[in-house]
Amino acid sequence: GLDAQAPVSEASVVSSASPPGEPLTVLFGSQTGNAEGVAEQAAARARERGLEVELKDMASFGKQDLKRATRLMAVVSTQGDGDPPDGALGFYELLAGRKAPRLGEDHHFAVLGLGDASYEYFCESGKVLDSRLESLGAQRLCARVDADVDYEDTASQWIESTLAAFAELAGASAPDDGGSAASTERAAATYSRSHPFQAEVLEVQPLNTEDSDKQTLHVELSLEESGLDYLPGDAVGIVPQNDPAYVDELLAALRLDGEAPLEEGRRLRDALLRDFEITTLTRPFLNQWAEISDDAELRRLLDEESRDELRDWLQGRHIIDVLERFPVEGVEAESFIRALRKLPPRLYSIASSQAAAPDEVHLTVGVVRYETHGRARNGVATTYLADRVKPGDQVPIYIDHNKHFKLPDDDSAPVVMIGPGTGVAPFRAFLQEREARDASGDNWLFFGDRRRRSDFLYQAEWLQWRKTGLLTRLDVAFSRDQQDKVYVQDRLREQAATLYEWLQAGAYLYVCGDADRMAPDVHQALLDVIREQGGHDEEAAAEYLRDLQQQKRYQRDVY
Ligand code: 2AM
Repeated sequence: GLDAQAPVSEASVVSSASPPGEPLTVLFGSQTGNAEGVAEQAAARARERGLEVELKDMASFGKQDLKRATRLMAVVSTQGDGDPPDGALGFYELLAGRKAPRLGEDHHFAVLGLGDASYEYFCESGKVLDSRLESLGAQRLCARVDADVDYEDTASQWIESTLAAFAELAGASAPDDGGSAASTERAAATYSRSHPFQAEVLEVQPLNTEDSDKQTLHVELSLEESGLDYLPGDAVGIVPQNDPAYVDELLAALRLDGEAPLEEGRRLRDALLRDFEITTLTRPFLNQWAEISDDAELRRLLDEESRDELRDWLQGRHIIDVLERFPVEGVEAESFIRALRKLPPRLYSIASSQAAAPDEVHLTVGVVRYETHGRARNGVATTYLADRVKPGDQVPIYIDHNKHFKLPDDDSAPVVMIGPGTGVAPFRAFLQEREARDASGDNWLFFGDRRRRSDFLYQAEWLQWRKTGLLTRLDVAFSRDQQDKVYVQDRLREQAATLYEWLQAGAYLYVCGDADRMAPDVHQALLDVIREQGGHDEEAAAEYLRDLQQQKRYQRDVY
């Protein structure tokens, strides 16, 4: 029998539970690995409860799989404009199409959506999946949950309540506390978002010349004594602090005293500096502020009929604009704080390889400063790094592993890297890694930015690698060096024949950078190249690219 005080191994927990009936399918659609991580956590907890579990990726989940998944727990993230992850596109096509299977009364499901509440189509892929499963005939066992960027607590709660519901359905036994303690201990052993490592800033160097209209920084952080490991393609999460000058503006707009103590004994100013997001607007904030202010105009704007008008008004506006436009007399610090979400960490694609710099991690940071509605807007983490930290300071970080942006295991495979602007960061890591591994495969980089003279990021390093032969080809597109814009996708089209040869020879394609315009334009250019060079029609070209995606030979890290 089990001794409640003795440490409990997972195996003994599993064997102690009664057989639960039909297996539980934990299905994920993941772009950067967050949804996958939640699914893994769910699968582990389910096994601790004695459930039989199958962990599945939407990237390889077909019609028959769906029909068999009568106990389905699904986690899916949403990309910018409401799209599912790249790898899940095929599964969503299946769901939407006429070939979608009918699911019976015996099919039960629960959906967790991951997303960002500052986007209009928040958790859209979760919503689509949830409603589609229902319309196909399956039973919703638990109401859908939409998790914001600080998803971890929400996800853990969803896992526990959903597993409890499935356990009840199967008549299985109650959770085992020994198991839960063991998994908490495992999680605490390494640095994470909620438990970051204090990394010393080693260097912050400008990558543009002074006359550039952009500011891009090369940042080097120390990992010494951290035991942290990463691979090229991974990202660093930075836990920033807000701009103190902006906090003061906010306090002034609220007519609140920053020294005011809060319930937990902190000062308001300090909480606004470190704990909460105070720039980006979210739906929940607007709803809360409508309640606090009881402003009729704000209430009207939040009505479903004003959706378009609200979207227009929100363009380029932040929390402070709402405070000024809908002011409140005598607002309470606590109720304002309650309307805010936790300050989410910011992710940066890593620009170094531990093969080249074992105790360091390098980042390429595009500093965000612009003006809208007569007010200067500064990116929180980017200006934190540019203006508020100095070499010798410590910055809280963690590693965000990304399984979906990885060099091929096969060192002889050719690699094509498309990374304009800061999108070039992971390719510096890729090349450092391939150099250290002495990989024989060819490497081709497409880089673009505004002007060659001021914005050729890491120019000396690329040119050196061209000389040594590590970089087989280098194509650059400087958009503002001539009358007409030239972008990386124009270079792709110019090189269509060679590019297609590389693909036919097994090349891996990587795209990193802007998700809104660059990535779709590059995607279209790739389709055109494949169509023309392969003599395919549009349909077949799309199929070709989808196949590459499924084989992990077309990977994207776009933001
Ligand atoms: P632009 O600013 O001159 O328009 C890195 O930011 C580079 O990406 C810049 O040269 C920028 O050009 C360019 N860029 C802008 N829109 C793009 C798009 N849709 N596709 C590819 N590159 C783009």
